[in-house]
Amino acid sequence: MFSQDQLKQQAAQAALDYVLPQLQPDSVLGVGTGSTVDRFIDLLAAHSGDFAAAVSSSERSTQRLQAAGIRVLDLNEVASLALYVDGADEVDHELNMVKGGGGALTREKIVASVADRFVCIVDDSKLVRQLGRFPLPVEVIPLAREAVARQIRSLGGQPRLREGFTTDNGNQILDVSGLTYDDPAEFEAVLNNIPGIVCCGLFAISGAHVALVAGQDGVSRLELQD
Ligand code: 5RP
Repeated sequence: MFSQDQLKQQAAQAALDYVLPQLQPDSVLGVGTGSTVDRFIDLLAAHSGDFAAAVSSSERSTQRLQAAGIRVLDLNEVASLALYVDGADEVDHELNMVKGGGGALTREKIVASVADRFVCIVDDSKLVRQLGRFPLPVEVIPLAREAVARQIRSLGGQPRLREGFTTDNGNQILDVSGLTYDDPAEFEAVLNNIPGIVCCGLFAISGAHVALVAGQDGVSRLELQD
């Protein structure tokens, strides 16, 4: 029986196997944030000479990438990314995701938006029939926190401030429980329209292109047909 940590390691290895054949000496790779991605970065270290650089979605990943000998570029220096690799807190079979458990959701959504393909790497505890069990992280401008919280309550959610946490962008996170998403993309659009919300952790308007899901029987690949 593999532990969750071992499954994360297997998902990270699967990501490396998926990504390496697609990397050219001038490629720039988008890299997300979290404990699964940490393992991916550690594996990537041995291949730092096979591609040009990375763009990172957090200060945490930037530090780890640089420690691994990988050059990190600012997103403003990069016009396109072929691939973006990141974890998720939940992913469904349509490859909609909830992200932001690590608080890096805004930069994650921005960097992912520049990439041609989002490669989601998870252990199978994250694969769900319907999103909603994991409280939805919502990054808010601090002065708008209570105004946003009222709007979220009116949508049926119970927001809770992530205590003692400031995002890399200097904002706060509300973790919202009690939400159900019949149409995750529609709900993401509703949240995107609330003044004071910088970004919500629903990645459904633009989800993953492929998910590498590590389970007891190996790593399975979920991919939507174009
Ligand atoms: C960070 C994220 C992470 O991808 C998500 O929280 C999964 O993390 P982990 O790999 O540690 O389980 O969205 O903002």
